[in-house]
Amino acid sequence: LPEQASTMAPRVDALYYFLIAITAFFTLLVAGLVIYFAFKYRRKSKDEAGVAIHGSMWLEAAWTIIPLIIVLVIFGWSSSIFFSMARPPAHTLDVYVVGKQWMWKFQHPDGRMEVNELHVPVGVDVKLTMTSQDVIHDVYVPNFRLKADVLPGKYTHMWFKATKPGKYHLFCAEYCGTNHSGMVGWIIVQERAEYEQWLAGSVGQGTTMAQAGEKLFKDLACSSCHQADTIGRGPTLIGLYGSKVALDNGSTVMASDAYLRDSITNPRSNVVAGFQPVMPSFQGIVSEEGLLQLLEYIKSLKATPSNATGVIS
Ligand code: CUA
Repeated sequence: LPEQASTMAPRVDALYYFLIAITAFFTLLVAGLVIYFAFKYRRKSKDEAGVAIHGSMWLEAAWTIIPLIIVLVIFGWSSSIFFSMARPPAHTLDVYVVGKQWMWKFQHPDGRMEVNELHVPVGVDVKLTMTSQDVIHDVYVPNFRLKADVLPGKYTHMWFKATKPGKYHLFCAEYCGTNHSGMVGWIIVQERAEYEQWLAGSVGQGTTMAQAGEKLFKDLACSSCHQADTIGRGPTLIGLYGSKVALDNGSTVMASDAYLRDSITNPRSNVVAGFQPVMPSFQGIVSEEGLLQLLEYIKSLKATPSNATGVIS
C-alpha cells in the first residue's frame, strides 16, 4: 500500500486489512474443509451409501448469526470512517478546486491560485470545495486514502489532515477524455515554517477571493438589486450564508454553497418569499472560479451591528 500521509489513512487501512483477514480466513476454511471431506468421506466400496441428513437447527442458526455479526461489525466500522470523512471539522483551511479538461485549478481564499499543485501545511485540517467546469472528474490522493467525484454544476467536499510533509500524487480517477491519464497533480505538504515561506514567496493575486467576488458583484450589477436594507428588488445577502431561507413555494432551505450557486445560475427555482422572480440567470456568464469568488464574498457578509443597516460595498 502507498505510504500513509493523512489521519484517515491508518483508519482506512485497518478496515481494509480486517476485510482481507476475514476473506482469507473463510476462503481457507471452506477450501480446506472441501478437500479434507473429499478424502475423509470418499466412497470406499461400490455399494456404500451415505447417511441421510435431515438438517440441523443449530447449524442453520450458527451460519446465519455469525455472518450477520460479521457484516454488522463491517457496517459499523465503515460507517464511522465514512461519517468522519463526510463531516469536516468546524475550523478548516479552505481551498477551492475547479477541475477541467485536463487540469486542476486551486484557489485559496487569500487570492492565491495554483495549477496542478496544492500547497498545504502539515497537521492542519484542510477542506476542499470542488466543482468541474466541463465533465465529471475525480480527485484521488492515494497517500491520503481519499477520493471524491468532481461534478459540473455541483459542489462536492473533501477534507483531510496531512500527517507527514512530502509531495503526494493527485490523480484524476474518472475517465474524462483524451488526456485523462495526464490530469495529475501534486499535493505538497510542508512544515509550518516552510509553508509560511512559500506563502510569503509566492505571487498572490493582490486581492482575496472575497474582494474579487465583491468586484464581480458590482461588475455584474448584483449590487443594484441586492442591497443591505432589503429595500432593493432582491433580498439582502448580509448574514445569509448558513441561515434558513423561506422560499415563495412555502419551503425553507439552508443557504449553503449549493443553494447560493443554484440561486445565481438558476434563480427562478429559488425565489425568496416576498420577492418577484425578476433575477436573470448568470449561467455561463460567470466562470466557475467567479462563482466561487462570489460565494466567498457572500460568506464574508456577516451580520454585525455596524453593517446591519448599511449598504453592501
Ligand atoms: Cu479528469 Cu479524468
